[in-house]
Amino acid sequence: MNVTDLGFIKGFIRMAADGYARGWHERNGGNLTYRLKKSEADEARWCFDTKAQWVSLGAKIPELADEIFLVTGSGKFFRNIEPFPSENIGVCELDQSGGSYRILWGLDNDSKPTSEFLSHLMNHAAKKRAKGDSYRVIYHCHPTNLIALSFLLPLDEKTFTRELWEMITECAIVFPDGVGVMPWEVCGGRDIAEKSAALMDKYDVIVWAHHGIFCAGEDFDLTFGLADTIEKAAEIRLKIMSANAKTLQTITPDNFKELAKAFGVDLAERFL
Ligand code: 13P
Ligand code: ZN
Repeated sequence: MNVTDLGFIKGFIRMAADGYARGWHERNGGNLTYRLKKSEADEARWCFDTKAQWVSLGAKIPELADEIFLVTGSGKFFRNIEPFPSENIGVCELDQSGGSYRILWGLDNDSKPTSEFLSHLMNHAAKKRAKGDSYRVIYHCHPTNLIALSFLLPLDEKTFTRELWEMITECAIVFPDGVGVMPWEVCGGRDIAEKSAALMDKYDVIVWAHHGIFCAGEDFDLTFGLADTIEKAAEIRLKIMSANAKTLQTITPDNFKELAKAFGVDLAERFL
């Protein structure tokens, strides 16, 4: 068996290739992490190097002690993941304290996990606290239209959520909790990681102004689908703005309430 025949690795690579095809991963832009289920870790154990050195994370995340993640590498290009997986992605294990990691497979030639590893891990921890074991994927991408909107809309959660919800009827069903919004921040550090994780408690999507989005989900399909839906809504919003014409109608707060009732969705009514 090849490592790349493992189901979770195949799903991860397919999602990375889909994100690249969408144009959300220029150069080394974006990163992806997946928290392995115990059964997946057991299935992959034969390829793990358990003699690798532990490396400090620079923070302790005890909720994730002993957890194993599939991660993209820092400075790696998404377009290279499918043809050269072991150089561009890797499996990393956290130690018993949740303060250090070691590379069990991949990230060849002294490569390191993404510079946003701390943001990913803190977001995973936030989701684990909020949702137990159901959430597995954290995805950071640079979607064009959403980034453009972060220059045009006020950077608050109510405005972003309503503007996006109104663009496609299904948006409110796909992200009924709305979207979190953060102002511009220096990326790749502990500060942005902590601020993101604080929002991940209540949102599955966080906008990083003038940078991109962080999405959380239960599996690859749901997480990619969430990013795809948000970016399509942003594209429609931008097309409407570019038309420079008065909007004649939209989806109203009463419509949203009807929708929530019809689909049994618990909509964040503070955004209506
Ligand atoms: P990495 O190459 O370290 O993953 O960084 C890319 C990125 O998008 C940072 O926000
Ligand atoms: Zn980025």
